[in-house]
Amino acid sequence: MVRPGGGRKGKIMAAIKEDILKKFGEIFGSTEGVKTYFAPGRVNMIGEHTDYNGGHVFPCALTIGTYAAARKREDGRLRFYSMNFGHLGIIESTIENLKPEKEAGWTNYPKGVIWAFGEKGYEVPAGMDLLLFGNIPNGSGLSSSASVEVLTGFILRDFFGFEVSNQELALIGQYSENKFNGVNCGIMDQFAIAMGKEGHAIFLDTADLSYEYAPIKLENAKIVISCSNKKRGLGDSKYNERRSECETALAELQKVVGINSLGDLTEEQFEACQSAIQDEIRIKRARHAVFENQRTVKAVEALKNNDVELFGRLMNESHISLRDDYEVTGIELDTLVEEAWQVDGVIGSRMTGAGFGGCTVSIVRTDAIDAFIEKVGRAYEKKIGYPADFYVVEIGDGPCIL
Ligand code: GLA
Repeated sequence: MVRPGGGRKGKIMAAIKEDILKKFGEIFGSTEGVKTYFAPGRVNMIGEHTDYNGGHVFPCALTIGTYAAARKREDGRLRFYSMNFGHLGIIESTIENLKPEKEAGWTNYPKGVIWAFGEKGYEVPAGMDLLLFGNIPNGSGLSSSASVEVLTGFILRDFFGFEVSNQELALIGQYSENKFNGVNCGIMDQFAIAMGKEGHAIFLDTADLSYEYAPIKLENAKIVISCSNKKRGLGDSKYNERRSECETALAELQKVVGINSLGDLTEEQFEACQSAIQDEIRIKRARHAVFENQRTVKAVEALKNNDVELFGRLMNESHISLRDDYEVTGIELDTLVEEAWQVDGVIGSRMTGAGFGGCTVSIVRTDAIDAFIEKVGRAYEKKIGYPADFYVVEIGDGPCIL
């Protein structure tokens, strides 16, 4: 199925704003004092599993994301409702004694952020009624959860006047995900969402959070996201395992070289010292982290030189490394990417996000998009047994009040 990713952005946003306000009235009684907000999802162009290894990433915010209608309360109650999980009804909590609960489902994300604000010294003084609607496919690897986290932080700042920058909103979101929801994610997703800029990707050095915006000017080409529809949750994936494999490899390397992270090594330096790592699997994991970081630097350089073809080839190499060395792809993502590589007009294609399911990102010539969706879609369904979804996306801004 093909769905519009952005395009007539203003109109889509206005229509959704109207929908969520109407629903808010139905669910919470009235729309008096309600404000509406949006935070994007993100796609990472290149630099995968480098953000917790002190390397570079190159993500961008999308024009699809999470919409909120929210109203401050006088008491400490929290009432949550998601139009994507309407069958769950209103889920309640209070601002005191917040803790993650399995039955609380998706509300563990906003709860985690309210908790994290308190941990960081920004005590949230009152509760809220919060209704969400997301047009990012859930569990697709386009960061629906980080989008909810940044959105919640943005709303808290707006309601209570906390003096936190967008970058801090990203860090608080990551902290909540790490400490409240138990996923040791890096900073990429929350940063990409909080700092998004229309038409640009963010070249972020996760070692020190220095960043620069790089315009994505694709002549006669677009970014196409192919969603495998294989659901995954970071918590139950091997994400934390990969992270600890890299930490062990780093500790082994630090016995022979003075580095702070795998991102400090060039390919040549890694080749020269890799024998310090005592296990073949860990060598592969570390090799991916080192080479992917260097690839990301080269890819951004290529883009600056208007060499989109080279950028695409580096995307393809990134996928191969994630498939063979990091082993986070799986048959669904490999099928989407390997089929994409066969289609004329595909400049580059790779898995994006954590992996193990979720999405791929491809740069496709505009005149080849129909053929791409047709061919990759048909081959995928034949091999995997259920269809993929395709989204032609636009790069959007960070969070905003609607
Ligand atoms: C997830 C995490 C990010 C990053 C990617 C892999 O999206 O949330 O921090 O590690 O996986 O690049």
